[in-house]
This record gives sequence, structure tokens and C-alpha cells, in this order.
Amino acid sequence: MCGIVGYVGPKSTVDVLLGGLRRLEYRGYDSAGVSVITESGLETRKKAGKLDNLVAEIDSHLLAESHIGIGHTRWATHGAPTDGNAHPHLGGSRSKLSLIHNGIIENFSELKAELLAVGTQFASDTDSEVAAHLIAREYDEHGDLLKSFRNVVNRLHGAFTILVIHEDQPDMVLAARRNAPLVIGLGHGENFLGSDVAAFVEHTKRAISVGQDEIVILRADSVEIIGFDGSTVTSEEFTVDWDATAASKGGWPSFMAKEIADQPQAVADTLMGRVDSEGRVSIPEMHGLSAEDIKNIDRIIIVACGTASYAGDIAKYGIEKWSRIPVQVELSHEFRYRNPIVTKNTLIVAISQSGETMDTLMATRYARDLGAKVLAICNTQGATLARESDATIYTHAGPEVAVASTKAFVAQITAGYLLGLYLAEVRQSTPIGELQRMGRELLRLPALVSDVIDSLIQPKELGMELSDAKSVLFLGRNVGFPVAMEGALKLKELAYIHAEGFAAGELKHGPIALIEEGQPVIVIVPSMRDDESLHPKVISNIQEIRARGAKVIAIAEEGDTEVSQWSEHVIFVPQTEPLFASILTVIPLQAFAMALAEAKGLDVDQPRNLAKSVTVE
Ligand code: F6R
Repeated sequence: MCGIVGYVGPKSTVDVLLGGLRRLEYRGYDSAGVSVITESGLETRKKAGKLDNLVAEIDSHLLAESHIGIGHTRWATHGAPTDGNAHPHLGGSRSKLSLIHNGIIENFSELKAELLAVGTQFASDTDSEVAAHLIAREYDEHGDLLKSFRNVVNRLHGAFTILVIHEDQPDMVLAARRNAPLVIGLGHGENFLGSDVAAFVEHTKRAISVGQDEIVILRADSVEIIGFDGSTVTSEEFTVDWDATAASKGGWPSFMAKEIADQPQAVADTLMGRVDSEGRVSIPEMHGLSAEDIKNIDRIIIVACGTASYAGDIAKYGIEKWSRIPVQVELSHEFRYRNPIVTKNTLIVAISQSGETMDTLMATRYARDLGAKVLAICNTQGATLARESDATIYTHAGPEVAVASTKAFVAQITAGYLLGLYLAEVRQSTPIGELQRMGRELLRLPALVSDVIDSLIQPKELGMELSDAKSVLFLGRNVGFPVAMEGALKLKELAYIHAEGFAAGELKHGPIALIEEGQPVIVIVPSMRDDESLHPKVISNIQEIRARGAKVIAIAEEGDTEVSQWSEHVIFVPQTEPLFASILTVIPLQAFAMALAEAKGLDVDQPRNLAKSVTVE
């Protein structure tokens, strides 16, 4: 939610800010704005709609040269997406202070009442403007900007990253962070602030992740961090491990198309250094959890939201099978508020691409307070989730810009399986020979994913053909069930049509009533080689829905001779270990949803109402 960028240095500030906002636009795209300090003082431009509207506004009302500024791209919480509600917001009667905010100020009504009582005029319906006026008022009283800023952020409740510049102090950006992300980019004679490293990665790869309740005083040649209480804070620098080209379309029509194509690399990079040629898994990052801790685990609870939760649902099959530890998968927001049973022997596995999803952060904080260990599976270096966990397995999918998750999902499943194999080896719960066989099979996956990517014409054509569909149903069993739910989610978020994923076995318990003549149903067919003989059961399900008029599109393994007889279309994927098939079968579903949305003329990178990182509860 909302992207934030700040800059002090010799470059053209407007260019740095707009470049950063372009890379952060996935976080929110209903309005955008910048403020800079020029020779003649503070200047602001802001506009509702996509970033291009702001660019057009700046082109028609040029900004003078500047070397300090802040920029914001918004995902509306308080107040509709209008020019007035776009950030930055100005504070004080002389509007010399400019502020941007990501998050929600929960006590804003009470603070606004206080300001209204002394006659403050508001220009927007946002919670954020309250903070701008409070800081400006206090500054007008005693002239100490840092002190005013610190006093006010201490009064705010909720989640916020706030950046402020003031005309009287044209060399300094102040920033504060509580429950919302903030990263510093360190340059030579210039420094940056961003909601994530994408904001500044084209200028520097040296970064510092700002901690909870910390304030940053950013100047061109210095960065100081203090606590909300004024204490000195020491911080650790890290190096961003991807470059700017990874976050650009690179000739693809959309980020989503590029990210689908990136999937072989995402899986390969997530496996890299973690599986040797014999198939033995080692995860050096697990050092926060000792062998003793791992042996004591009596339950794993995976917490995640949306697509990441489906990755958890899939990982559960492998983790339980190999480690024999009971696994439950919970939506973070449901887990947090139902008084769950968590002990010091519970391992919480939190899966999050961004590492900033507030629901997942709240769930992990809650579980930690109850004594559980937390392991993160996360794609974003320096993210809050990684900082707050006992250990982190990074998925090396690279930056995911399209709002709908694709490559992060397959990388999360890969990491989940690595975790299962690793736990099983430490606990000696599955013969090592079998674990190594699995490890070697994981190493084959990048090539198999490439094969699937090379043959996406058919699902894309089907997507275009079905662009008038009012509803599409998805069926799957075992690991195919979460894949079905993920296929349905992709279609809902990209193409805005009704879609549901069901467990195929559940069909006759209700959902079969939805089947009528011509209803498209996509069925994820399990391997014919599966030990549990699920294949004939799913073929029976296909026959049941066909008999009632369904139009069946099957995703099946190469060599499945039976499925073609019962389906209008079959999309074949290469054979692999049945548990790993999810990584292959989901890809045609991604391509199908993307093609269908494109055929409807929709923006596949930035679907309506969504933001990439959901940093509010
Ligand atoms: C759907 C999608 C979302 C995210 C969910 C969790 O395509 O991307 O459902 O998976 O919002 O986000 P992270 O993984 O950042 O915690």
C-alpha cells in the first residue's frame, strides 16, 4: 500500500523521485505526487490516477531545479482517490512543510478534532494531513523541526511511514517508521529513502533497513538514525542482490508476462546453493533454529495470505510427508484473532513475498509473544518479516512488480519443499536416500518449468477464446487443490470474473449444482503414476461434470492417455515427482488468466482496487 520515495543529493530530484515512483507504482496507483524545495521554496505537484497523470502535470507546470524532495504513490484508505487527497499534504498556515504517509493513523479523528478546535483548515479527507498540521504547528512554536517531528510521531497510533521536508531546512528529509516499511539507500554525496529498495536500486545497492519506531535524519552526506525516544540506533548495511534491470519490463508487454517467463530462473535461484548434485539439502540460513529446536517442534503452523497461503497449502503436503510433523495452514488474519494454541514447540512458518503484509506480521508477532519460533519464507531483502523472524529462507525470485503474484509463488513452493526435506533430514524421519532422490528431482525443475513456458500458446488461446465467460470453475485434488484455488484467484484479480477453486472430491457435496451446459471447468489432473491412485478418481469427476454439460479443460501430465477422451482440451505438462507437479500445472493457469484479461482490454499489471503489498490490517 502506497509507495514512498525521498532524495537528497546533486541529481535532478524530480527525475529521481519519478524514477522511484515508477518502480514503486505496483504498491498503489490511484494517485501520485511530489514535493521539492527549490530556490523559491516548497513546490508540490499531485494528481489523481496513474503516475503518467502526474508526469503530464509536471510537464505542463515545470518544477525548478531542486536537490531535495519526497514522492508518493497512493492506494487510498481514508478519502477517495482525488487530486486533493493525493499526497504530499502541506502543513501549517504558510504551507512550508510537506508530508507523505503510508499506513493508517488510527487516532486521527481525535487529533483532527484537536486541530479543528484551534481553527486549522484541512484541504483533504485523509488521516495523513493531520500529521502535517501537527508537526507544522509545533515547529512554528519553537523552531526545532526534529523535535516537533519526534513529538508528533510519538502521538500517532497505528501504522505509518512518514516523510517530511520543510522549506526552512532545505538540506534534510525526516522519516519515521512504525509498522510500515522504510529502507535507506546509501550513495556518495546523496542518500535515498524508499518503501523498498526498488525505489533507489538504479542509483545504489547499499541499503539499510529502518527498524520499528525509528526516525531517520537524511542529508546528502550523512544518515542518522534515532529511536522514537531519542536514543541512538546502530544499523546494519546490506547489499541489494538484484539490479535495476530486474525491475524493468525488458521488452515484455507487461511485468506479468516477464515474470511468468522469469519462473525457471526463480526456481533455479531459490535452489541455488541449497541442494548439491547428490540431492542433499542444506539451508545455511536456518542457523537461527538449532538442530535441538528442530527436533523439539511438535507442530508447524504456516501463516500467509492470498497466493502465499496457497504456496503454504502445497508445501504442507511435502513437509508432513517427509518430516512427519503435523502442519496446519492458516490465513494470517484468521489465525491472529482466534486465540490459537501456540507453544514454544510450535514452529510458525510465515510466507510472504513482500515481507510487509501487515496481517502476516501481526500473526507472527502474536505467535512469538506466545513463545513460538518463527521462520520466514520471504522474497524481499531487509523486509520487516525477515528482521522479526528467528530465521529466513529467502526466495530468490527477484523483484516481483506485477500485482498478481507468479514467480514468487513457484519460488515459495520450492522453498517450502526445501524446508520439508531439511527438517526430515535433521529429524531422520525419512530415509536419506529418498530425501536425496527428492532433492535431485527438485534440481530438474528449472528445465521442466522452461518447457512449460515454451508451450504456453494453448492456454493463451483458450484465455482469448473464453474472454466472454461469466464464470470459470477450477478443480483439483491433493497438491492440485491449492493450484485450483490459485488459478481461480488469478482469474478473479486479473479478469474480474467469478471463479472458484474446489477440491475435486468435494464436488458431489455441493458445487456440482453449479454445473450447467457450457460451464468452463479447468481440472488439474493428478499424475497417473501417483501412489494414491487419485487419477481415476479425478477422471470420474470429469465424467460427472461432462455428463452435466461442463466444458472441460484439463491440465495433465505428458503420457496421460486417458484424459483426452473426456476433455475438450488438454494442456500437457512434463512428468515430475507428483508432489512437485504444482510448480508446473500452475503456469498454464497464470497464462490463461493473463490472456483472458488482456482480451478484455484490462491492465494485467495493475488490476483495479489492488495493491501489491498490503501493509494495513
Ligand atoms: C495474488 C497476490 C496476493 C498476495 C498476498 C500476500 O496474486 O499476490 O494474494 O499473495 O497479498 O502478499 P505477500 O506474499 O507479500 O505477503
